[in-house]
Amino acid sequence: MCGIVGFVGSEQAAPILLDGLARLEYRGYDSAGVAVVSEQHELQVRKAKGRLQALSDAIHGGADLKGCIGMGHTRWATHGAPSEVNSHPHVSAGGKFAVIHNGIIENYVEIKEFLISQGVRFKSETDTEVVAQLLEFYYHECHDFFEAVGRVLRRIEGAYALGMLCADCPDRIIAARKDAPLLLGYGDGCTFLASDATAIIRHTRDVAYMEDGEVAVLTADGIRVYNALSQPVEKEHHRIDWEVSAAEKGGYQHFMLKEIMEQPEALRRAIFPRIRDGKIALGGMKLTNAQIRDFSRIFIVACGSSYHVGMIGKYNLEHLLHRSVEVCLASEFRYSDPIVDEHTLVIVISQSGETLDTMAALREAKKRGAYILSIVNVVGSSIARESDDVLYTWAGPEIAVATTKAYSTQLAVLDMIGLYFGEVLGTVDPAEYGEVVAELQKLPEKMEALLGRCDDIPKYAAEYFNHNSVFFIGRNLDYALGLEGSLKLKEISYIHSEAYASGELKHGTISLIEDGTLVIALGTYAPLFDKAMSNVVEVKARGADVLALTTESHAKEMAKTVENVLTIPDTARLLLPSLGVVPLQLFSYYVALQRGCDIDKPRNLAKSVTVE
Ligand code: G6P
Repeated sequence: MCGIVGFVGSEQAAPILLDGLARLEYRGYDSAGVAVVSEQHELQVRKAKGRLQALSDAIHGGADLKGCIGMGHTRWATHGAPSEVNSHPHVSAGGKFAVIHNGIIENYVEIKEFLISQGVRFKSETDTEVVAQLLEFYYHECHDFFEAVGRVLRRIEGAYALGMLCADCPDRIIAARKDAPLLLGYGDGCTFLASDATAIIRHTRDVAYMEDGEVAVLTADGIRVYNALSQPVEKEHHRIDWEVSAAEKGGYQHFMLKEIMEQPEALRRAIFPRIRDGKIALGGMKLTNAQIRDFSRIFIVACGSSYHVGMIGKYNLEHLLHRSVEVCLASEFRYSDPIVDEHTLVIVISQSGETLDTMAALREAKKRGAYILSIVNVVGSSIARESDDVLYTWAGPEIAVATTKAYSTQLAVLDMIGLYFGEVLGTVDPAEYGEVVAELQKLPEKMEALLGRCDDIPKYAAEYFNHNSVFFIGRNLDYALGLEGSLKLKEISYIHSEAYASGELKHGTISLIEDGTLVIALGTYAPLFDKAMSNVVEVKARGADVLALTTESHAKEMAKTVENVLTIPDTARLLLPSLGVVPLQLFSYYVALQRGCDIDKPRNLAKSVTVE
């Protein structure tokens, strides 16, 4: 959700903060603000509703705010509408403290009432303002910034990544973390605070991840970190190894298009090091074969598109492992009293590694004894660190809110887990194993070829962009793929869209099909192609406008019934969604482009959802 950046050094802070915020804007973009400490030790705070550009224009690219220490925030509203007054930094009534926050202070109402009873006047509707006000309240008692922070942290409940400035201590930022991501950056004569590395990688690659309960004091000379008992902690340093350019548009109009195009390369990174002599080799995984044999239950837990990867994983893993696999939305799993014990494997999937519901589900499963194997993109993220085992997708930074390359690489890694486990369990047919491994190796190349010949998609987008309701239909893997296709479309183009298992049409949905309704019929899954065709005929008979997706080998057959057909190369059955998703991503992209939508930052959404 919200993005946080902080800087302490000898250069002007404001331009560094604005640059960092620009790279974090995908986390939230309804308002933004900065606080910079002046040479006279005053807190200068500027905020603006709307995109970061509005703030940048208001302070002339940072030139208006002089000072070498400061922090910035880009907001995704939870408490209080997007507005200047509700945006961060929040300043205490006496003007001594400025606070930026990502997360939710759950007991803010009670604290607010207490402070109001003490005569404190609030300006905003936010939960965050209580932190600024409470800091000042405790500071009046103890006259010590660090101690006041400690008292605040003992009083507040909820999730937070906090950055705090005090006018009386103009050389430092104090940061605190609980259940929301925050990392520290070590520069030459300067230090940084950030929600994620994209914000600071131009300045340093030397970072440390804050843990829950830790408090950090950042000065130009260095960073001191303390645990919840205020004991000093030695932080392990990590080196960010991707290039700055990976988080830039590189000539593309949108990050989303760039990331779609990067998929073959991302797949190479995810797949090639994990295949040796025709065998899947999950290097670094700690799970033993004995443990794999011992699992009696398997869950896949995730949110959003990662959940859709899990839906495909369910079909593929059940096929390869001959075991039932339950796929659960993390937000449901965590409250569902799941039947999980020490013979349970929970596969957690998350691009960001920070999604709060997914994290909570992980902790719940762990508490019940499950073994946690996660598939994560962001190296060093919370989910990666709390899992028993992690397989990284190595997709590189993904900036567009709508995921593309992370989805594809998650899918490939999950398929590889299926193959690996299937071999250990002796449940996978050796011929199929060989075929899927060979096709996995060809996947990047086939996707490249597919991307190179998707020229007809903008034409279809131009034809269909005015529809206001779309149905994706398919069976088996095509149904799971349809869920993702439908989500992509609604996320970025705001067209109402739903995905249905074709067999369910007759149980209700078909009543919604009328003249001109757009139906995207997915017919890539060869074993059920004929059945898929029957459903196409049914919706056509009721006037639907059909756009079909199938494999090259079925294109002719499909064309007998449907005029507009998108095709993907043939591949192993299990891998069809890996190719099938590409035209659907591009279709959504071009439809959103036609509709003039803000593709990389769709309304109301944020990339990393760190609140419930
Ligand atoms: C948000 C993003 C989605 C993503 C979901 C889960 O909704 O917009 O693209 O699939 O969160 O995120 P995660 O980082 O856990 O995969």
